[in-house]
Amino acid sequence: MEFLLFFLFFFFVSAQVAPYGQCGGEDYSGSTTCEAGWVCQYQNEWYSQCVASTASSSTSSTSSTSSTSSTSSSSSTSSTSTSSTSTSSTTSSKTSTTSTTGTGTSSTAFPSVNGLNFTIDGKTSYYAGTNAYWMGFLTDDADVDLVMNHLNESGLRILRVWGFNDVNTVPSSGTVYYQLLTNGTATVNTGADGLQRLDAVVAAAETYDVKLIINFVNNWSDYGGMAAYVTAFGGTQTGWYTDTAIQAAYQNYISAVISRYIDSSAIFAWELANEPRCQGCDTSVITDWVVTTSAYIKSLDSKHMVCIGDEGFGLTTDSDGSYPYTDGEGLNFTVNLAIDTIDFGTFHLYPDSWDETDAWGDGWITAHGAACVAAGKPCLLEEYGVTANQCAIEAPWQRTALDTSGVSGDLFWQYGDTLSTGESPDDGNTIYYGSSEFTCLVTDHVEAI
Ligand SMILES: *[C@@H]1O[C@H](CO)[C@@H](O)[C@H](O)[C@H]1NC(C)=O
Ligand SMILES: *[C@@H]1O[C@H](CO)[C@@H](O)[C@H](O)[C@H]1NC(C)=O
Ligand SMILES: *[C@@H]1O[C@H](CO)[C@@H](O)[C@H](O)[C@H]1NC(C)=O
Ligand SMILES: *[C@@H]1O[C@H](CO)[C@@H](O)[C@H](O)[C@H]1NC(C)=O
Ligand SMILES: *[C@@H]1O[C@H](CO)[C@@H](O)[C@H](O)[C@H]1NC(C)=O
Repeated sequence: MEFLLFFLFFFFVSAQVAPYGQCGGEDYSGSTTCEAGWVCQYQNEWYSQCVASTASSSTSSTSSTSSTSSTSSSSSTSSTSTSSTSTSSTTSSKTSTTSTTGTGTSSTAFPSVNGLNFTIDGKTSYYAGTNAYWMGFLTDDADVDLVMNHLNESGLRILRVWGFNDVNTVPSSGTVYYQLLTNGTATVNTGADGLQRLDAVVAAAETYDVKLIINFVNNWSDYGGMAAYVTAFGGTQTGWYTDTAIQAAYQNYISAVISRYIDSSAIFAWELANEPRCQGCDTSVITDWVVTTSAYIKSLDSKHMVCIGDEGFGLTTDSDGSYPYTDGEGLNFTVNLAIDTIDFGTFHLYPDSWDETDAWGDGWITAHGAACVAAGKPCLLEEYGVTANQCAIEAPWQRTALDTSGVSGDLFWQYGDTLSTGESPDDGNTIYYGSSEFTCLVTDHVEAI
């Protein structure tokens, strides 16, 4: 079956480029012919892309190869078919420029920034949320639904999930992956075991009015990450940010994801990466990449917000000189936040991993708040966690975040629930729905907001 899958991938890659795929550019040697109804459009000297041939076309058809798998994994495993899926863009040929500031907002308005705060469904406030990186890798819609229902019921309005899942070889049947990176070729998996699983997360988020942060690549090798690109295209991890072939594949992937949800009000923001780092690099490497990538995203989708997903490293404001405040990992927080295609700042908090005390975390939060006020943009404490005494340690951080101007939301790492397959992943930091930790870190916190 793997042979057949490879054959089908090869056929599509070499014969006709799928919607939103790369079809030209410097160093590109693949097919320059798009599928029927799509044309190859020049983006820049190293990247051309298949776009719908009529600008006002309302739906796009994505041909993909996928192994058919029914929800019951015990069924026949030998059938392979070519399936056709349609992305769920709605008919919208006119450009609506309705302002959402002030009154008269509707629940379909996209999340936005309002001064130093966030606005969701027309309501400007501080927002609490969480991370559940695994949501888009679940294979049972009922599990996705259960989690979204619990989030809505708990008042957790923002959910950050992994929008990447890169592999170098096709995994065993039934294992979800989003992109195959192999021998200089990137193939987005739009099949039932691919981005259709992320579709289910977005659909459930729409139903339960949860807003999603979706990122496009991992610095770390979990779920592939930058290392998977390097394996397929060569180079080094620090060279990832400037390698033209890698960046073309990365942008192609971004385009494939965004095109599916470009009209969805369930997207809170697109995020460049999970914890991008470039150790020992000049900070201009990551800054240039943020400028290019965020501008590229805005060129595809000007309506949704864009953020970086960094840990908040490299901060001069109120610095105590310790490691996280330095630019040793190749980041300058203030310079990157000032980029005009970045809507808000992100930072994480893991004192244990950074050789700091738990109490140090309060200063880390207020320092970022001050930098965000200076930049005139809100910031999101988008990951924080400890493995023990969670109520005693994390509740004070939440209080500090809530009381700090410029910090306008927090997402604890990470959410846990009981799924049809048992408990969701526990990395030691997990706060399970219904637990006593959930009461102090979610119920009490949401009430305080
Ligand atoms: C990898 O790509 C090169 C260049 O296109 C080709 O010569 C080689 O056969 C490919 N190897 C595999 C394993 O597909
Ligand atoms: C979301 O939660 C609110 C408040 O508890 C509730 O009124 C609403 O019905 C929920 N939405 C869904 C789709 O369950
Ligand atoms: C993440 O970034 C750091 C800093 O550049 C690097 O040392 C590390 O190897 C990266 N992780 C992976 C898995 O690429
Ligand atoms: C960030 O860049 C600014 C402007 O160049 C500089 O003043 C500041 O020292 C830098 N901060 C760090 C931590 O590198
Ligand atoms: C917006 O943010 C500022 C500063 O953090 C805060 O004082 C104000 O109350 C917020 N406004 C709303 C409506 O939440």
